[in-house]
Amino acid sequence: MIPAAGLGTRFLPATKELPKELLPVLDRPVIQWAVEEAVASGADEIILVLAEGKEALAAHLRPDLPLERLLEERGKTAELEAVRKAGNLCRVTVARQAAPRGLGDAVLCAAAAVGDRTFLCMLPDDLSLAQTPVLRQLWNAHEQLGTSILALMRVPNDQISRYGCAEIAESRGKLHRVSGLVEKPPAAEARSDLAVMGRYVLTPAIFGALRKTQPGALGEIQLTDAIGSMLEGGDVWGVEFEGELLDVGTPAGWLATNMRLAREHPEFRNAVASAGTAGRS
Ligand code: G1P
Repeated sequence: MIPAAGLGTRFLPATKELPKELLPVLDRPVIQWAVEEAVASGADEIILVLAEGKEALAAHLRPDLPLERLLEERGKTAELEAVRKAGNLCRVTVARQAAPRGLGDAVLCAAAAVGDRTFLCMLPDDLSLAQTPVLRQLWNAHEQLGTSILALMRVPNDQISRYGCAEIAESRGKLHRVSGLVEKPPAAEARSDLAVMGRYVLTPAIFGALRKTQPGALGEIQLTDAIGSMLEGGDVWGVEFEGELLDVGTPAGWLATNMRLAREHPEFRNAVASAGTAGRS
């Protein structure tokens, strides 16, 4: 499940008309990076939670036969292959969020589409840069422990108020059993330096928890609060994942991620190396 119904306020004015998930990172939009990570992690279906006006996200992930035909006629083989790949990554189902009532509400809007399945949930604001995709690492932990799993990352104290923060009852290496969760705590009140990052394995019990969750931080229905209330009914574990998550949800993060990936990319390396010197002789 990919909740992608947000307004993109952190990225205005770029996102005034264009959904932030369609901003490109190198040669493909953010949503495609997210779906590629999910597919590489074993997902065979994507449930997109969309707000009105964001249908182009689903369209990007579906075949575009007229465009494919045109590229074929013109002999544009590489472009044809790229377009076909984007449109055939996996099955796409769309769920709707009627009003921007928070991440928890967005996840709840996909309840009917998910049904009685344990599922992976990912926020497309971060790209996974890891030998084993971060989502796959979470699924591996789920196979070991059988519970809902959160992606955890240690952050400096002055950054914890941007995230959900996990209180830990017990640790086994990089696996931590969660005893409490607080969404965006003030730094002084944080119970650990472990931030919840935007990757989750969730059991279907999350939907019952979400139905009972009242608006919390920022007046929104918070996924973090619903996962916190699931602790009464069973364990939730977190995994401090290997590798990195790269921010593409803010202009500064997006720019830094593009520069970083470009420097490591055979096709774009030269373009960034010579940036700033172009035009000079
Ligand atoms: C969301 C979650 C938060 C999590 C964060 C990770 O917040 O609510 O718990 O730590 O994603 O990026 P948002 O960034 O949407 O404010």
